[in-house]
Amino acid sequence: MFSKSNKEDKNTIDTTQILNDNIPKHIAIIMDGNGRWAQKRHLPRITGHREGMNTVKKITISASNLGVKVLTLYAFSTENWKRPSGEVSFLMHLPGDFFDTFVPDLIKANVKVKVMGYIDQLPDFTQKAVKKAIADTAKCTGMILNFALNYGGRAEIVTAVQKIAEKVSQNDLKPDEISEETVNSSLMTADLKPFSDPDLLIRTSGEERISNFLLWQIAYSELVFSDQLWPDFSDTTLKDCIYQYQQRNRRFGGLK
Ligand code: FPP
Repeated sequence: MFSKSNKEDKNTIDTTQILNDNIPKHIAIIMDGNGRWAQKRHLPRITGHREGMNTVKKITISASNLGVKVLTLYAFSTENWKRPSGEVSFLMHLPGDFFDTFVPDLIKANVKVKVMGYIDQLPDFTQKAVKKAIADTAKCTGMILNFALNYGGRAEIVTAVQKIAEKVSQNDLKPDEISEETVNSSLMTADLKPFSDPDLLIRTSGEERISNFLLWQIAYSELVFSDQLWPDFSDTTLKDCIYQYQQRNRRFGGLK
């Protein structure tokens, strides 16, 4: 029914053939390549981030229309503070710019905003912007748009271990009662249940690494690497990634 998907023919795939009954419920995206997009045009890197923000708007609506339940976007990692201060400052202002202009569209699309990461370490104006967007969309019941902001997978696991150790030290939990479920429910994705783990993880820009994103949760995610730079990522690219996902045989360690 489908042509074989590989790097050579992926531009010719008829993405209208994606199966509507096998849309990944949770898609996570490492939005990479903003800087290179700008560099190619001899523009400052922040221009790439601004264009990347516009791509976030487009892809949010596309994913919502496709019936995705959770879209998790890696917007700022715990390691991104190492970037030049002007770029960090620009990135910290992006959530405010994004939500100021886009919350009405999110509400119209019934999309609920969630943010995961070490939010209390963000500048006050960033915290205010995200908290307002969460409150403004609290009644929405459709797709969850989950921003990872000041997020790092290892830090998240350390925090989860600390929470669990605290319960053990209070005698609320015995060490041999600690299960995968104990860990799941101590992570920042706990409230996304039953969609805590991404079915599909996409990274743009041709880089093929995880960069400390959702380390626990991607144990059985399908990984798709797209050559497109994030500002160029489109509805068609998203459908192409979903098409690739639909060609995979997910076995979760078993046999099928
Ligand atoms: C990686 O590209 C991208 C980031 C670190 C920032 C991602 C942020 C956005 C796409 C905008 C987010 C929007 C909202 C609403 C918060 P890079 O700069 O590392 O690109 P490069 O590898 O080409 O240099």
